[in-house]
Amino acid sequence: MKRRNFMGWVGVGGVVSALPAVLSACNPNQTATTQTPTAPTAAGGFQVVGPVAALDQPSGLLNKDLAQPVLVIRDPANANTLVAVNPTCTHEGCTVDWKSDAKAFVCPCHEAKFGETGAPVQGPAKKPLSTYTAKIEGDQVLVNFG
Ligand code: FES
Repeated sequence: MKRRNFMGWVGVGGVVSALPAVLSACNPNQTATTQTPTAPTAAGGFQVVGPVAALDQPSGLLNKDLAQPVLVIRDPANANTLVAVNPTCTHEGCTVDWKSDAKAFVCPCHEAKFGETGAPVQGPAKKPLSTYTAKIEGDQVLVNFG
């Protein structure tokens, strides 16, 4: 291939590969917004937060990729019921962990403990964790952040 032909092919290739980006930038209907990643929304305001299989991990199902973080566990008193909390510690905002052996949400920063309902059982945190309604549909865990 001669140099002139080669340069022609490279030029055409560059224009074609840049075309989608150029057209997108020129679209007047497109607005520049920052969006928080969201999970698919099911009926009734529930959002998919993860697979049911994750509930069987000792630490429960933690999802921090939604508009609000959520930690879902099986209720220790009834494994058919779910407990969903916002894992943000009400003391200074660290993320609590679920300790199944202690049946408590424990904060790694200053060791506050919350019972399975999210109520504080050991300071320094004094306010409960926020709770949400959770359910299982098929092989997915859904939470209503209401
Ligand atoms: Fe959780 Fe301090 S941030 S106990």
